[in-house]
Amino acid sequence: MDFELNEEQKLIKEAASNFANQVLLPTILERDETQTFPTEEIKQLAELGFMGMMVDPSYGGSGLDTMSYVLAMEELSKIDAAASVVMSVNNSLVCWGLEKYGTAEQKEKYLPDLCNGKKIGAFCLSEPEAGSDATSQKTMAVKKGDYYEITGTKNWITNGSSASIYLVIAQTDPEKGSKGISAFIVEKDSPGFVIGPKENKLGIRSSDTHSLQFNQIKVCEENRIGAEGFGFTFAMKTLSGGRIGIAAQALGIAAGAYELALNYAKQRETFGKPICQHQAIAFKLAQMHTKIEAARHLVYKAAWEKDQGLNYDLSGAMAKLNASEVAMEVSVEAVQVFGGNGFVKEYHVERLMRDAKITQIYEGTSEIQQMVISRAILKD
Ligand code: CAA
Repeated sequence: MDFELNEEQKLIKEAASNFANQVLLPTILERDETQTFPTEEIKQLAELGFMGMMVDPSYGGSGLDTMSYVLAMEELSKIDAAASVVMSVNNSLVCWGLEKYGTAEQKEKYLPDLCNGKKIGAFCLSEPEAGSDATSQKTMAVKKGDYYEITGTKNWITNGSSASIYLVIAQTDPEKGSKGISAFIVEKDSPGFVIGPKENKLGIRSSDTHSLQFNQIKVCEENRIGAEGFGFTFAMKTLSGGRIGIAAQALGIAAGAYELALNYAKQRETFGKPICQHQAIAFKLAQMHTKIEAARHLVYKAAWEKDQGLNYDLSGAMAKLNASEVAMEVSVEAVQVFGGNGFVKEYHVERLMRDAKITQIYEGTSEIQQMVISRAILKD
């Protein structure tokens, strides 16, 4: 594995950093406070080619590698993890899943607008009683001739109201367990589609999270992704890549909090010298820096494995488990370095600490990642 970024990757990293500082930073405090979706900011991200980063140019994407996507996620998340989760779900759960497993017609119909920002995608797996236990799907898709009728409730859906294209996982044959689950493309204007109220969240407040109700929604057979019964494998395969994106997000949150704390510690003085010259603070910064570097290696390794065409289920789970724990630890320490100012919103570190928590929960909790990792290492 080569640790040197190529010229294209360096440019992506720089473009993402500039965008985060020039476009996201000026509006994030207000958007976080008022839970306002970054509509304009996401349109501009699409213009940069960041909404369909890994999609083939023939479908309107940027045709970049996973490493470039991870670098962009990391830089954006240093400033604004709410905007970066919108981008992450669109890229790694919706566009990637559709491009990998969709039919030519599905790709031609849906990918261009998902890449150019005219439409945003959402991934609908979780339910009130099927979060971690994802095989316990209650949403039903009943076949009626050449269409399915979908009925059920989905919970905690990122891009819940801002999306137009929803990938929905539902039971087509409950007798068959995980093999009786299928995946569908559902459009927002389908009769019977109801968006529940927006969740009032601890963190990533500028993203929109909703429950969704499907009341006998008609979905044509052409909108099923893969064969009947393929839906659980589709969800697991898609989430394996998604976890690399969330690991990069967690890494970015940790790095953003650390950079703020480092700069503050060089300027803030107590007892006649900058606080970074007190061992208590210098050692904290040393720990934070080391944890971030270690997390970065796991995240980049997972991206590298995906780009090499290797299996990345294990490395993605390890990268997410570790980076999300590091994001939490480092952001808490960053608040501590800031002291009283760390508790005040305008210094940004308390928001990064609140945002860090979700990375231990979504796209598989830390406990689920440990389940995936332990099963992989114990399977032989
Ligand atoms: N690739 C391919 N197949 C897989 C797979 C993978 N990565 N993981 C599991 N499978 C297969 C298994 O091999 C098994 O098939 P067989 O019966 O043929 O052996 C089948 O799927 C069922 O798997 P398990 O027996 O392992 O099922 P389980 O009930 O024990 O649970 C689990 C597996 C890994 C815990 C899974 O339920 C899981 O990942 N849960 C977490 C769900 C999750 O991440 N939700 C996130 C929601 S999306 C989100 O958060 C987006 C957002 O808003 C940001």
